[in-house]
Amino acid sequence: MKVLVLILLHLLQLCVGKSAFTEKIHGMGNVDPVLQYVANNSLREHPVLTKLRLRTLEDQWSTMMVASDQAQLMANLIRLINATKAIEIGMYTGYNALNMALAMPESGRVIACEIESTYIDIAKPFFKEAGVENKIDVRHQIAMKTLDELIAAGEAGTFDFVFIDADKFNYDRYYEKSLELIRKGGIIAIDNVLWNGKVVNPAPSDLTSQGLDALNKKLHKDQRIELSMLTVGDGLTIAIKR
Ligand SMILES: C[S@@+](CC[C@H](N)C(=O)[O-])C[C@H]1O[C@@H](n2cnc3c(N)ncnc32)[C@H](O)[C@@H]1O
Ligand SMILES: *[C@@H]1O[C@H](CO)[C@@H](O)[C@H](O)[C@H]1NC(C)=O
Ligand SMILES: *[C@@H]1O[C@H](CO)[C@@H](O)[C@H](O)[C@H]1NC(C)=O
Repeated sequence: MKVLVLILLHLLQLCVGKSAFTEKIHGMGNVDPVLQYVANNSLREHPVLTKLRLRTLEDQWSTMMVASDQAQLMANLIRLINATKAIEIGMYTGYNALNMALAMPESGRVIACEIESTYIDIAKPFFKEAGVENKIDVRHQIAMKTLDELIAAGEAGTFDFVFIDADKFNYDRYYEKSLELIRKGGIIAIDNVLWNGKVVNPAPSDLTSQGLDALNKKLHKDQRIELSMLTVGDGLTIAIKR
């Protein structure tokens, strides 16, 4: 099983290798014709995901939304490991929470952490329209509190998939909590690990890039996980718990 996951990841790495962090595939308007080709010939976006993406593009912070090809990759990882319990740390308008819920069976559950009620209000009608509102448990409070509550409730070691995509300052703490919550063979996906390329020689004043760079280097040596760093989106790390 583990070997299968690794082989798939390497194939995907080859396929998405052109999807440089400078240009996200959102299904349209790619400058690079090869990226547009990839989008044209591989994206299979659920109609409600398309509607939610278009609604989110009206928001001034829409660049925070996960890229379509990246979401599709994560949905496939969820299918590959038969994930039924996932956590999203930083839901925004819900594109990837919905994406993960759609990839899971009826028994699937996504715990989605978000502090901004405006975004939750945008997300919920789309969850309902897609018929998966019962699969998505939105926790409207700081993510760390939710993670601590899950651990206190005895849910450590029971989650299949965690997507870390909230405040970069807490990334290392989110990673440690996720490792506690995930089962052996479960996947932690970490977004924005390339930070638009700024993790390469971060400026002395750029604490965000320094923090991400430090985390990337820590994971490289971390014997608790198997590791892949993909250039999809803004850089996506895949850590599989040993
Ligand atoms: C990059 S966006 C997430 C994008 C989302 N995963 C998607 O699929 O489009 C980050 C989100 O994390 C939320 N956030 C930031 N800090 C947070 C915290 N401490 N606890 C919970 N949510 C937080 C922000 O409000 C924002 O909506
Ligand atoms: C992608 O699809 C659009 C719309 O069908 C088409 O105009 C464009 O030529 C395609 N581009 C590539 C590179 O396949
Ligand atoms: C996932 O579930 C399918 C069907 O129930 C099963 O055949 C497959 O072996 C499972 N895969 C893993 C990785 O558990």
